[in-house]
Amino acid sequence: MPSVRTADLLIVNASELVTMAGRRKPRAREDLANVHAIAEGALAIRDGRIVACGRTPDILARFAQKKGKPLDAAGKTVIPGFVDPHTHLVFAGTRESELVMKLEGKSYMEILASGGGIQRTVRATRAASDRELLRGALGRLERMLLHGTTTVEGKSGYGLDLDTEMRMLIAMEMAAMRQPVDVVRTFLGAHAVPPEYQGRPDDYVDFLIRTALPEVVRLKLAEFCDVFCEEGVFTVAQSRRLLSAAKRMGLGLKLHADEIVRTRGAELAAEVGAVSADHLYRSSKEGLERMKEAGVIGVLLPGTSFSLMQRDYPDARMMVSMGLPLALATDLNPNCLTESMPFIIALACYKMKLTPSEALTAATINAACAIGRQDEIGSLEPGKKADIAVLDAPNHLHIPYHFGVNLVETVIKDGQVVVRNGARVAKV
Ligand code: NIG
Ligand code: FE
Repeated sequence: MPSVRTADLLIVNASELVTMAGRRKPRAREDLANVHAIAEGALAIRDGRIVACGRTPDILARFAQKKGKPLDAAGKTVIPGFVDPHTHLVFAGTRESELVMKLEGKSYMEILASGGGIQRTVRATRAASDRELLRGALGRLERMLLHGTTTVEGKSGYGLDLDTEMRMLIAMEMAAMRQPVDVVRTFLGAHAVPPEYQGRPDDYVDFLIRTALPEVVRLKLAEFCDVFCEEGVFTVAQSRRLLSAAKRMGLGLKLHADEIVRTRGAELAAEVGAVSADHLYRSSKEGLERMKEAGVIGVLLPGTSFSLMQRDYPDARMMVSMGLPLALATDLNPNCLTESMPFIIALACYKMKLTPSEALTAATINAACAIGRQDEIGSLEPGKKADIAVLDAPNHLHIPYHFGVNLVETVIKDGQVVVRNGARVAKV
């Protein structure tokens, strides 16, 4: 008779437990659809980690919960907490008037060139106090948590001066201490050319390399460096210069690549060995091939195509069939204002023809890979963090199928129930 072990929390009777078990590597091709679901599933959690998962009778035979009753997930779906690997989490102000401008036919780049877009958010962010920046980030993290996200990547990039860029990165650290969501930070000083450097982008890149990056690295304010490599923003040559310097300083690399125009950002991502290249709306087949060969993950942001009212979306089916591993993210920013990964999964299915299983893999384990956290999160396996969402749905196909509402009922972060009945549990 095997001895019964204690657990801090048991989750039992899940009509579907999606484990995403498997290699801690980005999943591609048919592997992308293999979610490793267990019917009548159960999980045992201790000290914030998963200690066992399997079928309910087996788990109940091996584990007893120390206090209280196990969480009964009958009729529900249990999944790894969503990982959102591309957000602009900290900013001040909003840009709802640009929705009307877009409806009148103005393009994203026209709005940016006339002093709107990113530049408008830069003015508001520079003018905001530390408290205002923190308050905004906390509200967004709370909405993310309510929608099942337990880890996010957050970028700076609305300061474009050293002081405000650092304030943004510090606001993310403070916010992560006050909300049970992990935040992985990215320095995006190269998000736009600031007004002080208008017409002198190379001088601004020099400033980033000589002054800003060393300070960010010295104070350990970010793990990754990103750049908006785009026509009229930063060229491939400027992006290469910045990313190479960031790599020498020990940062991981990311790129906003081929979002609006084909600048060959995908090729650059492969060349510099980026962890991910994001957007890829206009990328060439050759660039995508090179990414695949270099092990760069493609992060798709269908919310951006949606908010930019683009007719077409990136060709995700082609990317899957060529074997490029894909992740999904919200791109949360004042132009694409959503905290909801379930909404992004719905867009990925309806607009890019990913299957629900592929989209869920892209929003969990592959998203974890895109921020270097695959050993800690993204799947429900012994040893991993107990970051879990319980959905009021019989199986994971409902995530895109039942769209536009929040199916997330319970969220567990580091083994603690932080959302119950769809509401934030009051902090003790
Ligand atoms: O990923 N394109 C650059 N950055 C964001 C948009 C930021 C903004 O419009 O404020 C993006 O789409
Ligand atoms: Fe972005």
